[in-house]
Amino acid sequence: MTVESVNPRTDGETGLREPPVAGGGVPVLGHGWKLARDPLSFMSRLRDHGDVVRLKLGPKTVYAVTTPALTGAVALSPDYIIAGPLWESLEDLLGKEGVATSNGPLHRRQRRTIQPAFRLDAIPAYGPVMAEEAYALVERWSRGETLDVTTESFRVAVRVAARCLMRGSYMDARAERICADLTTLFGGMYQRMVVPLGPLYKVPLPANREFNRALADLHVLVDEIVADRRAGGQKPNDLLTALLEAEDENGEPIGEQEIHDQVLAIITAGSETVGSTIMSLLLVLTEHPELGDKIRDEVKSVVGDRPVAFEDVRKLTYTANVVTETLRLYPAVWILTRRAVTDTELGGYRIPEGADLIYSPYAIQRDRRSYERHEEFDPDRWLPGRAGDVPKYAMSPFSVGNRKCPSDHFSMAELTLITAVVASAYRFDHAPGSDGRPRIGITLRPRRLMLRAVSR
Ligand code: HEM
Repeated sequence: MTVESVNPRTDGETGLREPPVAGGGVPVLGHGWKLARDPLSFMSRLRDHGDVVRLKLGPKTVYAVTTPALTGAVALSPDYIIAGPLWESLEDLLGKEGVATSNGPLHRRQRRTIQPAFRLDAIPAYGPVMAEEAYALVERWSRGETLDVTTESFRVAVRVAARCLMRGSYMDARAERICADLTTLFGGMYQRMVVPLGPLYKVPLPANREFNRALADLHVLVDEIVADRRAGGQKPNDLLTALLEAEDENGEPIGEQEIHDQVLAIITAGSETVGSTIMSLLLVLTEHPELGDKIRDEVKSVVGDRPVAFEDVRKLTYTANVVTETLRLYPAVWILTRRAVTDTELGGYRIPEGADLIYSPYAIQRDRRSYERHEEFDPDRWLPGRAGDVPKYAMSPFSVGNRKCPSDHFSMAELTLITAVVASAYRFDHAPGSDGRPRIGITLRPRRLMLRAVSR
């Protein structure tokens, strides 16, 4: 696929340039059809045509940002807020009053409410749950059946998030429903973002009906979770209690809608990302069995023959580097958007107020200008002596700035522990029907992984 650029212009008064327009758009859909058809290679090639490039998505003009330095500048600048095509498509799912979609003072207050649950010193308390869930996988996979890795990965992601942050066995029965609903919703949302033809999605076609059913069910689920916790009368020291007891700027309890949207935002943001990354990790272990051998050796030398515990994680540096390299090549959050709230400047280009910006951690993290052997899986590039070669903001799978993922430490601990436990127990082979090619929705993950776990 090629992306030709046309006509960069300069504004005589400000000296700022208009970003070039990417070529190859078609009537009505603009570049949306390319983003829908082959988004990873489309986004990856945009940098060849400018640091900032204009795209047409349906009737909208969108500014694609293509260099690490400028994506960092966007993430850190107050000139841009969370809005734009991705977030509009996500609002039905994440709500308008949850931390992932709010802005300004509301967002700052909400971050203060959730942050304590994710602080570095809060995470060791989650260790036993993370280890228990990792060993439950090993136990379940010992039966020798073909593993449907999508289900397995999403189940463990939802269970860890639910058990650590919203403690309660009431989540067990709901984990499967959450997984199924989110799979339907994230696929449909991506479609709505890149081909924003609103009325089309109101037509009662089977896909639209399924989407609406999943969305309604997820909202019911969240209400059930809140109602169950209240009915139980307990107030464990966890994120759900913090959300239920949060107060607004005036010291008043926050409203029911905000509680609902907050729970929804945490469950949604926490399960799809981790589930997708576990799938990518299992694909990597299947395609590079030597990595699993090395992880097993590291676990043996650090832990010996006892089970891996959370306290071991910080010594499992090779395993952590495999996780980091997986996040580089398969960032679950592969695309991000922002909206300019003022006329502003980016890299010498004019960005008008109201402009939607889009950028891709996937494209940034695979760019040959930032990484030697950029497509090669090399965990050792994260060794202390080499990690400094990576340009600033060329590796930000959790983003930076005020919207940075609150769960970066939580997720790294969870993923490293799970990887250490499963790679020590098994090697993996593809089973018939397995398809490791990328499936691109709001998140990035392997399409359909069917694996056999072979005991070591
Ligand atoms: C935000 C990535 C796991 C909760 C983000 C953002 C990224 C990200 C890139 C920033 C979005 C932006 O800049 O627009 C990831 C990855 C994960 C992960 C790669 C795992 C591999 C989790 C988990 C939770 C979580 C486990 C919660 C249990 C959130 C929330 C936000 C967020 C609430 C919104 C923060 C805000 O807007 O202030 N995540 N995430 N994430 N993430 Fe994560």
